[in-house]
Amino acid sequence: MRLSAALAVLSELKLCLQLGFVPTLRAILRSPTLLLRPHGISRIFMVHVWSAYGDGVDTNSRSVKEGLIPANAQGVVLDVGAGYGHTAKYLDHKVTKYIALEPNELMHGEIRKRANAAGFTEADGTLVVLPYGVEDVATIMSALGEPQSVDTIISILSFCSVPNPKQNIRTLVELLLRPGGQLLFYEHVLSPRADVGWWQHFWTPLWRCAMDGCCLDRPTHEWIKQMDGWSKGELWGLPEESEEHLWWHRVGRFVKAGR
Ligand SMILES: C[S@@+](CC[C@H](N)C(=O)[O-])C[C@H]1O[C@@H](n2cnc3c(N)ncnc32)[C@H](O)[C@@H]1O
Repeated sequence: MRLSAALAVLSELKLCLQLGFVPTLRAILRSPTLLLRPHGISRIFMVHVWSAYGDGVDTNSRSVKEGLIPANAQGVVLDVGAGYGHTAKYLDHKVTKYIALEPNELMHGEIRKRANAAGFTEADGTLVVLPYGVEDVATIMSALGEPQSVDTIISILSFCSVPNPKQNIRTLVELLLRPGGQLLFYEHVLSPRADVGWWQHFWTPLWRCAMDGCCLDRPTHEWIKQMDGWSKGELWGLPEESEEHLWWHRVGRFVKAGR
């Protein structure tokens, strides 16, 4: 593996620090008790980083999202880690409700703006913004009113950040997704190349600390593929992505068995 590819994390971290350090420091100076809540600090930092990164990442992944989301998403859609709500604009008339699951409440204003622009509003019940993480599945289920009431679960670059992902993704699918419903995802995952994987493991402790829990080294696509209970599943990659990319992506569509 080329050293420049292995060290790519450093330039990304530098950029993130440039974007997030000063506003986060200002927030701490305004409210020093934040120092007692490191997770709160991490979320403020992430908000500033993603407000600069989010649009660029969305633009770069537009063709992948256009291939994955409009063709498949339908009915009640749960967007895991909705971020700034970039997914909303890929949802078409087949979608009756957009549920944005986003534990970082500092992002909720932008989710509402983007969802409203795409035609989903809280006033007519087509938009629900939930301030929970995937690990709070019981709370999510009680907010939704009934089990297995979601037609489509979408995760765009979010399963990399959730705690205890293998268990939580399984529980999410078992309890929230209706039989016949789909899980759609676009994630950066552990590379099959040993040398790239070695660097992904090496950088993850530092990267997850800076990026609100984001891990570079999760074989999320494999975990999902190995789960029981799918009637159908497809996995694909990005045609022009270098094998040396530390953020190596997989795209997937899995259909829950039972109908
Ligand atoms: C890299 S951002 C992606 C945001 C969005 N999906 C997009 O495509 O722009 C990861 C998101 O996952 C969210 N997240 C972190 N921990 C989470 C958890 N436990 N459950 C659900 N989402 C979480 C973060 O707050 C953040 O908004």
